[in-house]
Amino acid sequence: MKLTQEQQAILDGAQGEVMAKVMKTMVMYGDTFGAEEMVPVTSEKGHLVTSFGFGVMTAMFDLMDQLIDAGIVSKQAFTVDPRPMDKNVPSNPIMDLITKKFMYTKQASYEEQLSKVGLESRETGFTCACYFDEVGNVPKQGDILSWAESSAVVYANSVLGARCNRNSGIIDLFGSILGCVPKFGLLTDEGRKATWIIDVKTSKKPEAQILGSAIGMKVMEEVPYVRGLDLFIGNELDQQARDYLKDFGAATASNGAVGLYHIDGLTPEAKEQGEALIAEGAQVYVIDDAELERVEKAYPIIWKNPDAAPKLAFIGCPHLSLEQLTDWAHKIDEALTDAGRKKVAVPTVMTTPEAVLRKFNELPEAAMLKARGVVVSYICPLMYMNNPLAGKMPVITNSNKLRTYTSARYYKSDELLKQITKGGDR
Ligand code: F3S
Repeated sequence: MKLTQEQQAILDGAQGEVMAKVMKTMVMYGDTFGAEEMVPVTSEKGHLVTSFGFGVMTAMFDLMDQLIDAGIVSKQAFTVDPRPMDKNVPSNPIMDLITKKFMYTKQASYEEQLSKVGLESRETGFTCACYFDEVGNVPKQGDILSWAESSAVVYANSVLGARCNRNSGIIDLFGSILGCVPKFGLLTDEGRKATWIIDVKTSKKPEAQILGSAIGMKVMEEVPYVRGLDLFIGNELDQQARDYLKDFGAATASNGAVGLYHIDGLTPEAKEQGEALIAEGAQVYVIDDAELERVEKAYPIIWKNPDAAPKLAFIGCPHLSLEQLTDWAHKIDEALTDAGRKKVAVPTVMTTPEAVLRKFNELPEAAMLKARGVVVSYICPLMYMNNPLAGKMPVITNSNKLRTYTSARYYKSDELLKQITKGGDR
């Protein structure tokens, strides 16, 4: 890889031994993927995927100490993925004991380390949906990023038109510290070309999480160009379209390894370049109602007792927008009234960034949800499910990412609504 004079000097130790190691790591990373140069990170802020102080990650905490001792601070402030714990989320004393004494034992000290190297805010900096206006980490089209959280990377690339590879944890931090990342893959025009054409031919608007799942499992890490979806979600990136694409994208990224998709007539690059974005020889995948049904039916149910009554429901992986929260509040309220129930039949947790939660708490819908027994939290449901006792619980969700990584069972949003509002009468 060709380095600039300044980059070479850092590699040679001009800024100390630790910075030289940081640069060496990034050079090796770039070399592995055939990068020929490093390019400046141009986004205003970074975003880190590693938000949890899992006690066994001693190497990670040592590394953070080395950075801090060397006086290294990230060139850009950053946000971080959601916290793994929130006392408001239903639990029991044994689960709490495991979480606090055996799992996230280093949460407080790790957060201190994060603050020292550049975490923007310990109050509002923890969420995977850092690109919401309320959180304020919103890259511009063409910005180069050093992020790793897969749902945020695919959103930034596809919906915002920024440029970011599917990096790993630590690499995201090192890119933000150095202010440069190796140029390969999704940072290049060539790497952003679509090698799959997806023709959506469904009779109605497809469930975002299942469509994303179907595409992810088919194309894996390649770039899909989706035709026919704008008929259902329009040609403007309004709030509804953005929320749909957030959930769709997270499913493509977790059920497969998609880092970028183009939606014909809607996402920025597709609007500008149209089908010129499709690479020669691209394969075609047609998605109709039957295909979506096939994909959904193939999801395994890994509960010990598949007929168990659900004990907990998670909505909001990735985190919900303010509009999604208020929409859910009304739907739950109306469905419970219809069912003649006062409270949800299944303990329900909806997750959102702290910055959104603060705004939501000023709205009447917050009291509405509280009265119905729904908890709104900033937690990451996946990290909650990492607790072995949570993993054994019958948990339901409308998130295909949560289904993929945990024992949670997937339901479409309207089915999930029935589960939590009708319970045994569903
Ligand atoms: Fe976000 Fe945690 Fe889901 S990081 S996408 S809420 S797994």
